[in-house]
Amino acid sequence: MNHPVVSVARRGDLAVVTIDSPPVNALSVNVRKGLLTAFNGLVGDAGVAGVVLACAGRTFVAGSDIAEFDSPVFDESDLNDVCAAIESLGKPVVCALHGTTLGGGLELAMACHYRVAAPNTRLGLPEVTLGLLPGAGGTQRLPRLIGVADALEIILSGSPVSADKAQRLGLVDAIVDGDVLDQALHFTRALIARQAPCRKTSEIAIAPDGGLTTLFAGARQGLAKKSRGAFAPAKIVDCVEAAVNLPFAEGLAVERRMFVECMHSPQSAALRHAFFAERETGKIPGLDKNLALPAIGRVGIVGAGTMGGGIAMNFLNAGIPVVLLEVAADALARGLANIRKHYEATASKGRMTLEEVDQRMALCRGSLDYADFGDCDLVIEAVFENMDIKKAVLARLGEVCRPGAIIATNTSSLDVDELALASGRPADVVGMHFFSPANVMRLLEVVRGRETAPAVLAAVLALARKIRKVAVVSGVCFGFIGNRMLEGYLRESEFLLMEGATPSQIDRVLESFGMAMGPCRMMDMAGIDVGAKVLGERAKEGTLPADPSYRMPCRTLAELGRHGQKTGAGYYRYDGRTPVHDPEVDRIMAELASRFGIARRQEISDEEIFERCFYPLVNEGARILEEGIAYRAGDIDIVWLNGYGFPSVKGGPMHAADVIGLPRVVARLGHYAEQCKDRHDYWRAADLLSRLAAGGHRFADA
Ligand code: 3HC
Ligand code: NAI
Repeated sequence: MNHPVVSVARRGDLAVVTIDSPPVNALSVNVRKGLLTAFNGLVGDAGVAGVVLACAGRTFVAGSDIAEFDSPVFDESDLNDVCAAIESLGKPVVCALHGTTLGGGLELAMACHYRVAAPNTRLGLPEVTLGLLPGAGGTQRLPRLIGVADALEIILSGSPVSADKAQRLGLVDAIVDGDVLDQALHFTRALIARQAPCRKTSEIAIAPDGGLTTLFAGARQGLAKKSRGAFAPAKIVDCVEAAVNLPFAEGLAVERRMFVECMHSPQSAALRHAFFAERETGKIPGLDKNLALPAIGRVGIVGAGTMGGGIAMNFLNAGIPVVLLEVAADALARGLANIRKHYEATASKGRMTLEEVDQRMALCRGSLDYADFGDCDLVIEAVFENMDIKKAVLARLGEVCRPGAIIATNTSSLDVDELALASGRPADVVGMHFFSPANVMRLLEVVRGRETAPAVLAAVLALARKIRKVAVVSGVCFGFIGNRMLEGYLRESEFLLMEGATPSQIDRVLESFGMAMGPCRMMDMAGIDVGAKVLGERAKEGTLPADPSYRMPCRTLAELGRHGQKTGAGYYRYDGRTPVHDPEVDRIMAELASRFGIARRQEISDEEIFERCFYPLVNEGARILEEGIAYRAGDIDIVWLNGYGFPSVKGGPMHAADVIGLPRVVARLGHYAEQCKDRHDYWRAADLLSRLAAGGHRFADA
């Protein structure tokens, strides 16, 4: 039998209104309607002296139902009506908070007259992360409750605050131990006993303060620098300013108008797409949800270099003990010292205590002996990117790891199936492709080998969640999802350089699109030598296109010792960390052009730069989809949003291509095929892309 999503029960002379709408009690149309009916019904009930609003399940309301935003049933005025009904009830309404009280949930709570919270409650207005602003009075009530400066910070950051902080700010009246509902009832009875007033947040006056003009100006200036063209933050400042300058009802009207503008913006559509795409990544077709998963309580890592150390920190931060193995004592000591140094630097910024540094280091045991992996549930190799070395390591791990333990490789370019075979137990092997810096970057590509056991895949996905990574499953192919797509992007960026564009022009175009870094700055940071080495390996394997000019800028700069930022010169010359145009690079590119018969041009338009870099990337994404390397277009978007600095307000490359329109993408690929005299088949549209475009479909429908 269906249970009601909102119910009203009596506890003596108190009413308890309970929302029960799993998983997160989002404010769907039924919940909004249920609340309105419940509170309207309580107005005239003389037997009810006060009300507690609470939620069943793991959390208080986590926001409006985002899935409804694109449907006609969504109307944010419903929630404003609920808030108004609560505030004007005429008897005290106390909210009992627990879990994640977010967005519309916090707005609902602020319309109540009092708020009590369980100690673990997190409270916030994360709408800005969805390209929105709080649309049910949040921008009007929060500054009235906690002051303008703190309110602006909370709404603009979108980050939740702890119950303790909320109490200090005046957002929560009491933090209660034990059952939060019982405690809220107790709190309400005490209010009634002392005839406490029904505090209406909307009636709190914001004290006039000359400093506010400066505060708003400062906030707007900060946004111009930080929010990189995001639409909602500026509107948030406008709404909070309206809260200061206008009566509540008028401020609410401003908020409502701006909320609707945000909701219909392409940026919000992109961010909402990304929200759901991220949650989809964990859903693997055909993977049984009820599989018994091997527990992972201790992790081994081979190689304490850049990646090994970073990977180790993920587990130490989550309280999971690590055995870190190296070939020699000095390399091991260096690796351990780097981890400690990193933690100490964090402590010096006040983000952890020295005691916590020691606690984390105590979880990390260095070793030179593979036998120490005997009690590990997962061992990840992060040694040099060399097939022979990695195969030898995998073979050793196959022998020493206990039966049932998982063996993972962090390779970024080698064949995971070949490595898996070397272990002698390929069902236990999976790729875990972390991104550098591995303790910071959210993305983890989980590479599912031909023989990877379903339980191994599921266990690694569950572990990724524990260490706060967003995991995307990729099939086996060169470069997996992200780096494979990067290849076409870099190819064209380098051809454009040989044709006469400058690194700063290319970077400017892609950075103005929103990329965190253009391709030249990115390569300079990642190391041109690293890129050239991979190209060299592929040349040996014979897997590069039969085009002698292919990626020659990268290979040439590497040969010249211009490895990027670390050598003070790459695509740019470096003045400290500042990239400076280097005429020497122009000369090198002109020379390459003449060597390979590439025509130089005086002027290359920004539009051409964007299209030539971006459309090959999308086209490769389409191939990745048609080959089944990625399960969904959304998975590809999540890889690029979390691993490559793709602008979140564009929703990822596949979503961005859907917005541009696939017929246009196909037409422009055709255009450049002609312009570039496509001898190497660089510009042929993927079959899937052509099919979708011809049928008027989007990647999202694939
Ligand atoms: N609407 C619809 N579905 C939601 C939702 C929401 N607000 N919040 C979470 N969900 C769904 C997820 O899609 C997921 O569904 P699935 O199991 O089918 O994939 C399920 O709830 C569980 O979510 P998570 O996997 O994210 O669970 P976690 O425990 O890791 O996180 C959470 C829970 C912190 C609540 C996180 O889901 C979250 O941050 N949610 C979004 C909160 C938010 O942005 N709220 C503001 C909404 S906009 C708004 O309120 C407008 C108002 O001002 C008018
Ligand atoms: P690194 O050179 O910093 O570290 C490698 C470490 O492995 C060295 O400390 C070395 O002493 C150790 N090592 C080598 N052979 C060993 C063996 N047989 N047994 C034990 N230890 C051994 O290299 P880095 O950058 O950490 O890369 C490691 C792996 O991570 C490579 O496969 C690389 O492709 C991959 N990767 C690197 C990324 C990066 O940006 N650096 C990003 C993603 C993956």
